[in-house]
Amino acid sequence: MQIISTTQELRSRLKSEPSVAFVPTMGNLHEGHLALVRQAREHGRCVVASIFVNPLQFGPSEDFSSYPRTFEQDCEKLAGLADVVFAPTVADMYPEPQQVYVEPPPVASELCGAFRPGHFRGVATVVLKLFNIVRPQAAVFGKKDYQQLHVIRAMVRQLNLPVGIVAGETLRAADGLALSSRNAYLGAEERAEAVRLYRNLSRIRESIIRGGRDFSALEQCAIDDLVAHGWRVDYVSVRAAVSLAPAVAEDRDLVVLAAAWLGKTRLIDNLEICLSADNGL
Ligand code: PAF
Repeated sequence: MQIISTTQELRSRLKSEPSVAFVPTMGNLHEGHLALVRQAREHGRCVVASIFVNPLQFGPSEDFSSYPRTFEQDCEKLAGLADVVFAPTVADMYPEPQQVYVEPPPVASELCGAFRPGHFRGVATVVLKLFNIVRPQAAVFGKKDYQQLHVIRAMVRQLNLPVGIVAGETLRAADGLALSSRNAYLGAEERAEAVRLYRNLSRIRESIIRGGRDFSALEQCAIDDLVAHGWRVDYVSVRAAVSLAPAVAEDRDLVVLAAAWLGKTRLIDNLEICLSADNGL
């Protein structure tokens, strides 16, 4: 595995690669990321993973400077899975002030976007830059960041980017908590409590599969439970899976998404609900 930190060096390393599969990350890798890298192997001969904590997608009061940076451990985890790790500096990615941005679709201002203004603009912009540098034929994104996946897919379609977007399933701890780099912020008591978010999403999913269609009552019930246990809830929302528009009773493919704070840690999670499939309930 090669570790490359400049755009120029990466370009020359990939020049003769017939097919590249790409996994962009911000590092602090866990099993969820590694599963995406393994999945990438099925989509290209050369697997490139990037590690770059992108300042453009953090708000002024967010955790950019404290975001966990664990470069050496990350490289150890990627050895044997990726062929190339691309780890540019901020100066390499942004050699001049970034004044050209990708304007994401309006849904990027809802859900997480309503609480993190400019976040998806920063994500879409850096992902487009990375696509232009790496030129992958396929790129893998986790469903854990469901709204991000939606925004990237819209960007690829509407800007005719020659990249196939592959979605990776969310990996969970034994109790159901979605794996996330930000779980590292949780203290022991918070870690035990954190699974409540998943449990509430599961309850909503089961209610909908059993015929429940009062989505706002289901959302409110989850919010009340979280608040009663000390959470600060940004949103719990049932949406149409394809458009991310607020769900209506006729929708068959749904997703319930949530973001909530436990102490100083903001956790997000989601569950898809496919009413046309056998849900095993
Ligand atoms: O999902 C992430 O880790 C980031 O948003 C991404 C896609 C690497 C862009 O910085």
